[in-house]
Amino acid sequence: MKPLIAGNWKMNGLSASIAEIQSLIEKLSGSAPEDRDVLICPPATLVAHFAKEFSDEAIQFGGQDCHENEGGAHTGDISAEMLADVGAGYVIVGHSERRADHGETDAAVNAKAQAVLRAGLTPIICVGETEAERKAGEAETVVGAQLKGSLPSTESELVVAYEPVWAIGTGLTPTLEDIEDMHGFIRAKTPTGTRLLYGGSVKPGNAKDILSIDNVNGALVGGASLKADDFYPIVMAAPGGR
Ligand code: PGA
Repeated sequence: MKPLIAGNWKMNGLSASIAEIQSLIEKLSGSAPEDRDVLICPPATLVAHFAKEFSDEAIQFGGQDCHENEGGAHTGDISAEMLADVGAGYVIVGHSERRADHGETDAAVNAKAQAVLRAGLTPIICVGETEAERKAGEAETVVGAQLKGSLPSTESELVVAYEPVWAIGTGLTPTLEDIEDMHGFIRAKTPTGTRLLYGGSVKPGNAKDILSIDNVNGALVGGASLKADDFYPIVMAAPGGR
């Protein structure tokens, strides 16, 4: 499976941040890594700008969220069709920050994932347990329920990102064995061919170990995706397409 290394810029980035994309493309052009997919999900304000500027490059762009509807009276929201229109290839849905800050339920995430598919894009559907849930031995139960509720039934391509909430932005990560166990669990519950990303404090220093684990087909990277100097070594740490 071809690895996917995705950067989630969250609510960071202005027009001038295009310099980081330029720098990343320069680094990538030296190594021409066609055996991996590279994706940056900047804030919605920058998707059109970046996708237009770099349409021929070995890097794709995506959204961080979308509304479930195609259009209508939903002030402040954007649709998957709008992201598709400006050149996005993927949309992250159900990130734990959306689930926590905006009360998104599994049903809402499922509807958004269906909207992404309707627009002809690939959803990256996020799941993951909290620290209390892991300590209580409920990680698999929680993730299993999230998968059941959030994944649309479809023959189209899906990407699932396992992101333990307690590992996001904290510098903490599960053990390699815990990641392997959870990814094996998720593999058994997802359609054949689904790429499974790990996310949560992926850094240049731990990327190689994490990306070498069975059933880890890429990474969803937050903080370390903001600077090309950090993101590039993570992109290159993925084993080639297998
Ligand atoms: P982090 O974020 O890499 O900064 O931990 C990951 C994410 O939230 O997608």
